[in-house]
Amino acid sequence: MSTPILTIDGPSGVGKGTVARVIAQQQGWHLLDSGAIYRAFALATDSRGVDIADESALEEIAQNLDLSFKTHLDSELVSVYLDGKDVSKILRTEQTGEIASKIASIGVVRAALLKRQQDFAVAPGLVADGRDMGTVVFENAPFKVYLTASPQERANRRLKQLRAQGHEGIISQILAEVEARDARDSSRQHSPLKPAKDALIIDTTELSLDEVIAQVSELVKA
Ligand code: C5P
Repeated sequence: MSTPILTIDGPSGVGKGTVARVIAQQQGWHLLDSGAIYRAFALATDSRGVDIADESALEEIAQNLDLSFKTHLDSELVSVYLDGKDVSKILRTEQTGEIASKIASIGVVRAALLKRQQDFAVAPGLVADGRDMGTVVFENAPFKVYLTASPQERANRRLKQLRAQGHEGIISQILAEVEARDARDSSRQHSPLKPAKDALIIDTTELSLDEVIAQVSELVKA
């Protein structure tokens, strides 16, 4: 029997990561945060001073990315190591997300990072979150979810998260960033953000985290 896979796609700030972690924990499955791969790749290109128009240099970096994850299923923490260095903190900044979103639109980059993501599909199962998990990377996954929420709600959630981490933010600015990232991720030519045809679409705007988890959990158990 092939490895069971649950894909969770959706726009930034919708809470995919939290839902993915809880379901992985419930099922005892592995976890793939594909956004972290794009973010780490963005950091690698940035620190090497590579011009994002230089596709062959980008491809080479993507193929040789020295990246590893340490997942702590019992906490919110996932440690990410790039070239042997813990980059977990800088990985999560808006600035890194911004560079990642620009670089993720390049076809050769996506192709070079594809197998690295597919290699996460090992027994007993996988929960994969991102933008194209159900449409491209794990097109044949048996369980697919697409989470969405209004941009205003996602900006509010992001602000809450920032405050919980002891930072501040300006709601209008966060909202503008959320909308700019949505536009870029949805309109790109390669693997644009969209629900897979066979995905369960859940609008989480009015739902609590527990309600979302319950719906996803039911799908996997069905
Ligand atoms: O999900 P996260 O915010 O960490 O992703 C950062 C960026 O990486 C996204 O804005 C998106 O452009 C890109 N990404 C992608 N495909 C994925 C995951 C992330 O293009 N599967």
